[in-house]
This record gives sequence, C-alpha cells and structure tokens, in this order.
Amino acid sequence: MVQIIYFSIPGETWHSGEIIVQIAGNTQMVAEQLGQLLNIAPEPIQPKVAYPKDYAGITQRATAEQSKWPKLQPGPTVHSELIYLGFPNWFGDVPPSVKSWLQQNDVRPTKLRVFVTHEGSGLGHALTSIQALAPQAIIEPGLAIRGGRANQAQLALQHWLLALEIKTKEKNDDRR
Ligand SMILES: Cc1cc2nc3c(=O)[nH]c(=O)nc-3n(C[C@H](O)[C@H](O)[C@H](O)COP(=O)(O)O)c2cc1C
Repeated sequence: MVQIIYFSIPGETWHSGEIIVQIAGNTQMVAEQLGQLLNIAPEPIQPKVAYPKDYAGITQRATAEQSKWPKLQPGPTVHSELIYLGFPNWFGDVPPSVKSWLQQNDVRPTKLRVFVTHEGSGLGHALTSIQALAPQAIIEPGLAIRGGRANQAQLALQHWLLALEIKTKEKNDDRR
C-alpha cells in the first residue's frame, strides 16, 4: 500500500513577488496531481487550530510554533510501507505541524518520498530534519517544486517517479 500525506496552507501566499489568495495551498495542488498519477486520495495533516488566512498572520504563527509544535487533528495514520510526504519549505526546514505528525506516528520501517514546495530554497534541510525525527525511516531522494509552478507539476512529478523507479530497480539488481 502507498499513502500521500501532506501539509499545506490555503489563503494568502507569495507568488512572483506579490501576495495572492489561493483556495488550495501550493503543496495541496502538488499532492492532488500526484494523487491523480498514482490513483490515491491525498490525506492532509491538519492542526487543531486552523492557521490565519493572511500571510503576516501565518508567518507570525509559524515563528511562534518553532519553539512549541502545534497539536493536530486526528489522522492520517500510517498503514503503508511507502509514504509520499509533502509540505512547504518553512524557514529552510519542515513545518512544525509535520514535525508533530512525525513525532506522533511510527514511520520506522517506512520508505519516505518527500516533496516540498518553496519560493527559492528548494528542499532546504528538510531531509536531514526528517531523518532526525524518524531515524529508522528510509528516506529516498526528494522533489522540490517552486510554489508558482505548483499547479503544473505533472511533468516534474513524472520525472521524479521514473527516477525513483530506476533507482529501486538498480538496487534490486545489485542484490541479485
Ligand atoms: C512561514 C513561512 C516560511 C517560509 N519560508 C520559506 C523559506 O525559508 N524558503 C522558501 O523558499 N520559501 C519559504 N516560504 C514559502 C513557501 O515555502 C511557499 O510559498 C510554499 O509553496 C507554500 O506552500 P503551501 O501553499 O502549500 O502552504 C515560507 C512560507 C511561509 C508561510
């Protein structure tokens, strides 16, 4: 079984140097396209208290959360050996809601394929951060997608999936 789990904030976001309003967050858009490619419904990580919709409010809350990770709504739970985990780059790192989720869920034997949306910093140090929170998870090469291209991510996703398949096949061939 495979799961797509993501964290994303709708509302105001930066796009090409200006603030725009979006009904679905950038990472949610990417998660939905990945869901279409893999025929899986993406599952959101949601904090108990919803984020503000304005960019200044989101940033203020995100800053406060650095020292106190938020409580989450129930779910999604881990029931697969392979999880695609998506989130935005926040201050070069994993958003605290995702850290809370990793802390609460045992992703020990699970393969994690991380996709991140960003405004220039790519994956940042997300993969190292995740490995520290889930030391026994198997972390595969991640994918970074610019927020402004989140609604047209199919090609990047297809390339990523293909590269991961080739890598898995090579590993299996080496074992034989
Ligand atoms: C609190 C906060 C911190 C951010 N920090 C960074 C950053 O360090 N580097 C970067 O490239 N983008 C940063 N961004 C931009 C987001 O990663 C980007 O807009 C992302 O696509 C938003 O995803 P979402 O709409 O799914 O929430 C930040 C955004 C927020 C709200």
